[in-house]
Amino acid sequence: MTTARLHLDGVDHDLPVITGTEGEVGIDISHVRALSGAITLDSGYANTGSCTSAITFIDGERGILRYRGYPIEEIAEAAGFTEVCSLLIHGRRPGAEELAAFDHELTYHSMIHEDMKKLFEGFPPSAHPMAILSAMTASLSTYYPESGPDADLELDIVRLLAKAKTIAAFAYKKSIGQPFVYPRNDLSYTENFLHMMFAVPAEPYRVPTVLDRALNLLLILHADHEQNCSTSTVRMVGSSQANLFASISAGICALWGPLHGGANQKVLEMLETIRREGGDYQKFVARAKDKDDPFRLMGFGHRVYKNFDPRAKILKRAADDVLAQLGREDPLLEIAKQLERVALEDEFFVERKLYPNVDFYSGILYRAMGIPVSMFTVMFALGRLPGWIAQWKEMREEPGGRIYRPRQIYVGETKRSWEPTPVAEKKELVTA
Ligand code: CMC
Repeated sequence: MTTARLHLDGVDHDLPVITGTEGEVGIDISHVRALSGAITLDSGYANTGSCTSAITFIDGERGILRYRGYPIEEIAEAAGFTEVCSLLIHGRRPGAEELAAFDHELTYHSMIHEDMKKLFEGFPPSAHPMAILSAMTASLSTYYPESGPDADLELDIVRLLAKAKTIAAFAYKKSIGQPFVYPRNDLSYTENFLHMMFAVPAEPYRVPTVLDRALNLLLILHADHEQNCSTSTVRMVGSSQANLFASISAGICALWGPLHGGANQKVLEMLETIRREGGDYQKFVARAKDKDDPFRLMGFGHRVYKNFDPRAKILKRAADDVLAQLGREDPLLEIAKQLERVALEDEFFVERKLYPNVDFYSGILYRAMGIPVSMFTVMFALGRLPGWIAQWKEMREEPGGRIYRPRQIYVGETKRSWEPTPVAEKKELVTA
């Protein structure tokens, strides 16, 4: 076995080295504290592998993303979202019958408990749909309380995947003051979501094929991305043996932040601002480079991808295709392309290897589909569900799995004594 040698305070310690199936090398520090008394420090976990995983492979230097070994480009071209859910969660491609049975389950569990509708009523109309999605996902554990260590996990997984899209669509309907539209069992997973979003009881609605295909693609491209912030959160919460619904609810909250999934909303807002202010994208590039300005080009940069984000490439093409099929033009797409061009030629971005990420073009697509900006991160969450579930399941099924509990290097006050607080003089009550 290969080892790495740590030399600390004049003593050598040999640490095992493990190599992944794609040749990634990791130094196993599980026993480093017991051996040396020291811990490792890695702000933002940029050099830390928190687990071994067989779900998703990313090579950020070469722009590679694979689910269970299958390249994202091939999956995006030919797979259905529920097929990808099954692949990620169950670890293998489902056969035709298995997929049909899985789809059937996902369809027949789409309705939410009727009492849950009352929870929607309690939110103000301005409530952000991510807050609703997270709260409702956690509350599923009150309607399905059998969830827990002895629960029927497969059933909980199906319920979560099936009901999340209903919750998401209801959150949208609530925000625009329209009646909830119930799921229909004759529609596919993606059609059902679009139907619940855009149909109204007053007239018939047929899901346009172009929207259905675009949604399928978007959900697939978001389905998993190994140990990112929200997935690590799901694993972290799940490691305490919290139930699936609670763990995924925490992941939804982590995704919401603008540095993570919330970036898709911020990208659109940024493009809108550029357009409103006359389309001077150079000015925004200059602001992003200015160290005294907190502004960043949203949808640019990635912790792992240092060449290109393969999802962004696919989405850029898809944005062109979908707009053409809908016979629409979007001035924001033009601004986005110009922004990308300018930034990619600029020394600042080239040096730091900052490329458009998945959030850069996804918003243009959502917008073309009629999905409002406040729902963009919810769409990301719907897509990421199978990844979170697969990672949660892998973590829980790992033999000898332990609670996630990092350490720290304490840099606060050293020991000092607590003197009793002197009693303050009582103030006279002044009455008028
Ligand atoms: N605009 C301008 N400068 C940037 C940007 C940006 N979007 N991203 C990184 N930088 C600079 C940063 O200032 C730093 O410069 P310097 O070395 O001079 O201090 C350098 O590039 C490295 O950045 P970092 O913040 O240390 O990188 P990170 O790996 O910690 O952060 C990131 C990754 C995605 C949070 C960051 O690139 C960012 O804030 N991007 C904008 C938000 C965004 O698009 N997020 C979506 C990420 S992809 C989808 C997802 O995961 O949800």
